[in-house]
Order: sequence, then C-alpha cells, then structure tokens
Amino acid sequence: GSEEKLQLVQRHVRAFPDFPKKGILFRDICPILKSPAALTAVIDLFEEHVRSHGWQVDLIVGLDARGFLFGPLLAQRLGVGFVLVRKKGKLPGTTLCVAYDLEYGTAEVEIQEDAVAPGQKVVIIDDLLATGGTLHAACELMKKQRAEIQGCMVVIELKDLKGVDRLKPHGVFSLLQY
Ligand code: PRP
Ligand code: ADE
Repeated sequence: GSEEKLQLVQRHVRAFPDFPKKGILFRDICPILKSPAALTAVIDLFEEHVRSHGWQVDLIVGLDARGFLFGPLLAQRLGVGFVLVRKKGKLPGTTLCVAYDLEYGTAEVEIQEDAVAPGQKVVIIDDLLATGGTLHAACELMKKQRAEIQGCMVVIELKDLKGVDRLKPHGVFSLLQY
C-alpha cells in the first residue's frame, strides 16, 4: 500500500548538515536512485496522485537537475512527453527565461519557446521544495507559454521555508515533509 511505499522512500533519504553551506541541512535523494524498489515507489506514488486527482496531463515538466531524475519516468508511466526546464545557457534555439532566488544563491531558468503549446496541461516535477523559488520560476515559464498547470510534485518539502505559500494558487504535492 501507499504507506509502505512512503516508508520505503523515507528510508532512502539521507541528511547532511552544513552542505553546501554552513546552516543548510541537505536532503540527499541519491539512495532512492540507487534502489530500484524505492525509485519505483516514488513513481507509483506520483502516478497515484495524478490519477486519483483526475489530473489531465499532456506533458511532464522537469526541473534541472534533480527533476530530470524523476520526471521522465513519470512521463513514461503516464504515456506523455517530458520537457526540460534548464539552468540558463544550456538550451539551443529560441528560449524563454525567468530569474529567481535559491535557498543558497540565485539562478535563471530557461525553456525552449516551442516546448509547450498554449493550452497544454502540465505537471511540474522536482526532487525538493525549499523556498519555492525554483518551482515558482518554472510556473512563470509555464505562464509565458500559456500552459495550464495542473500542479507541482516533489519528493521532499522543507516545511519551514514555506515554499507552498510562495506557489499559491498552484498546489504542491510532496511525498515527504521535514
Ligand atoms: C535544488 C533542488 C530544487 C531547488 C529547491 O536545486 O533540487 O530544484 O534547489 O530550492 P527552492 O525551492 O528554494 O528553489 P539546485 O538549485 O541546488 O540545483 P541542482 O538541482 O542542479 O542541484
Ligand atoms: N535544495 C535547496 N535546499 C535543499 C536542501 N536543504 N537539501 C537538498 N536540496 C536542496
């Protein structure tokens, strides 16, 4: 059942104090990727959420870099395509760009202009929600593309940083909360 899957996922997340900077407790999802069962559980839980909420999905949008680990697997499971939101300077052709703040730094994200067609329904995937800056920037990119955001999904939500508030009115579904 879902509870067993959640526990399996939880057992495959490690915490590293003071990485990449003093004061940051880094939540490491690498053990999930190393475990086929834990990785399958993540995708199962994401799929169950999409289906149980009746979300219509044309495309999964994944965030650079760790959203790329989960997004394509979910897209394949749902039988839809996957598009990349990348850090600035990585994508060829005409792109759209949005700047944002991180828990530790600043960055800009980009998407190819033709990645999403107006009116397409998307779900945005990342590994972790901290301040929400990254997912918010991705939502802004989707707005520029006139996509219809069904919701955002992450493996981990860091509750103290109130990223969920930042993303309103879009909802964020998370598997684990710290
Ligand atoms: C991390 C994480 C999320 C983002 C969350 O990525 O994977 O994408 O930070 O933080 P926020 O909610 O405060 O925006 P990071 O920018 O460290 O890049 P990486 O995925 O390339 O390691
Ligand atoms: N991205 C932003 N904050 C993070 C944290 N505490 N652990 C892992 N990834 C992060």
